Amino acid sequence: MSNQTVAVIGSGGREHAIIKAIKKSPLVSKIYCLPGNGGIAADAECVNIGVMETQKIVDFCKDKAIDFVVVAPDDPLAAGTVDALNEAGFKCFGPKKNAAIIESSKSFSKDLMKKYNIPTAAYEVFTESAKAIDYLKTREMPIVIKADGLALGKGVIIAQTLDEAIEVVKEMMDGGKFGASGTKVVIEEFMTGPEVSVLSFTDGNVVIPMISSMDHKRAHDNDEGLNTGGMGTVAPNPYYTEEVAKECMEKIFIPTIKAMNAEGRTFKGCLYFGLMITPKGPKVVEYNCRFGDPETQVVLPLLESDLFKIMVATADGTLADTEVKFSDKSACCVIYATKGYPEKYEKGLPMELPETDEFIKKYNEDAKATGISPISDALIYVAGAKKAEDGSLLSNGGRVLGVTTVADTLKEAIAASYALTKEVKFDGGFYRNDIGARALKALS
Ligand code: AMP
Ligand code: GLY
Repeated sequence: MSNQTVAVIGSGGREHAIIKAIKKSPLVSKIYCLPGNGGIAADAECVNIGVMETQKIVDFCKDKAIDFVVVAPDDPLAAGTVDALNEAGFKCFGPKKNAAIIESSKSFSKDLMKKYNIPTAAYEVFTESAKAIDYLKTREMPIVIKADGLALGKGVIIAQTLDEAIEVVKEMMDGGKFGASGTKVVIEEFMTGPEVSVLSFTDGNVVIPMISSMDHKRAHDNDEGLNTGGMGTVAPNPYYTEEVAKECMEKIFIPTIKAMNAEGRTFKGCLYFGLMITPKGPKVVEYNCRFGDPETQVVLPLLESDLFKIMVATADGTLADTEVKFSDKSACCVIYATKGYPEKYEKGLPMELPETDEFIKKYNEDAKATGISPISDALIYVAGAKKAEDGSLLSNGGRVLGVTTVADTLKEAIAASYALTKEVKFDGGFYRNDIGARALKALS
C-alpha cells in the first residue's frame, strides 16, 4: 500500500485537521477535499461537490480512481454515503447508515443503552406532546428535553421550571421548531458533573480510545451565552483519570461496540463518546458517529501513529494489529468565530493568518530566554473561509479558525494558543478567553 489517493468529505476545521494528519503519512500521495474551503486548499485539492451530493461523490471517486474515502460529517454518514461508496467498490472510513443511527436518532441510542445496561441518564421517548407534558408533571426540575434527530447540536434544552419545560415541548412537538427532528422528543434526567469527550477508533472488533478532550460549548467566557458547535478544546481532559478510563472501557466502550454488533449494526470508524462524570460514575450524554469538532483539532495533533494506516485498519478489521499511540503532551484549540455567532453574523470579512513555522521559531526563542519550555507544534485549522480573488482569505462561516498549539503541559499549550490567536488579524471575529481554564483548575 503506497501512493494512495484519498478523498475527504467535509469542509470544516475537523476536516482540515484530518487532512493535515493524513498528509503526514508516507503512504499518501494525493488528497482531495469535497468541498473543502479556502483555507483547506493549502493542504488538499478542493473540489466543489457538496457533502450530500452522493452520486457526484461516487462519480468523482471513480473518475479519479480514489483509493480511500474519509466521510467526516454526520449528515452524509446518516444519509448512507459510506453504503453508496462501498457498493461502488470504495473503501471508506466511517460507519454505514445503519450504524450512523447511533448519532442520528437519540431515541435509538437511548434505547440501545437501556437494552444493554450502558450507563446513561434515565429517560422516556414521546411522540405526542400531551403524553410528554403529563410525564413532565411527574419529574423533578431541571429536566433535559432533546429533539430526536440531528439539529446541529442545538436541539437540546435544559428547562429549569415545569412551565418552561412544557413550553419547550409544545414548541418542539407542535410548533415545528426543529422540523421533523423535533416531532419525537427524548425527555431525560438532568445529570451533573464535568463533561469529557472521548473519540475512539473501532473496526467493530476492538475499540481504541483516543486521548480524552474537553469541549467548551457556550459562546462566551464563564460558560455564558448560547450553545454553539464548540468554542475551543483542550486535551487531555484532567477529569478523565485512569480509574475513570478503566470504568468507561468496561461499562461503556466495549459494551457499546458489542451492542451494535448484536443489533446487526457493526460500527466502523470513529465513535465519539460524550460522557459526564457524575457522582454515580461516568454516564453517556451522547454518541456521535464521527470525529468531534473541535475535539479533532486537539486530539489529532497528539497522535504519533499514522492516521491513514489506522483509518484503513478500521475498514479492514485489522485495528488490533495497528499501532495507535498518542504523545504525553497537551494541546489547546481556541476557536476564532465571527461576531454574532451562533446567531446572525456577517460573511466575507477579511482576515490575515500568521505563518505558524515562524511563530514556533519566535515563540521558542522567547521561551528559551524566559525559561519556559518550548512548544512542539502550532496549527491554524480553517473552518469557514473562502479565497478572495487576490488570494487573501475571507471569513465564510460562524466558526472560522481553530488555533491550536501543542506543548509539554496544558498551561503552556493554553498560553501558546492564545499568543498565536493574538497574531491573527480578524477584526470581525471574537474568541473565548478562558479555554482550558476549568481544566487547569482541576489540575491545581
Ligand atoms: P447532546 O447534544 O445530547 O450532547 O447535549 C448537548 C449538551 O447538553 C451536553 O454537552 C450537555 O452539556 C448538556 N446535556 C445533555 N444531556 C444532559 C443531561 N441529561 N444532563 C445534563 N446536561 C445535559
Ligand atoms: N464538539 C461536539 C461535536 O462535534 O458534536
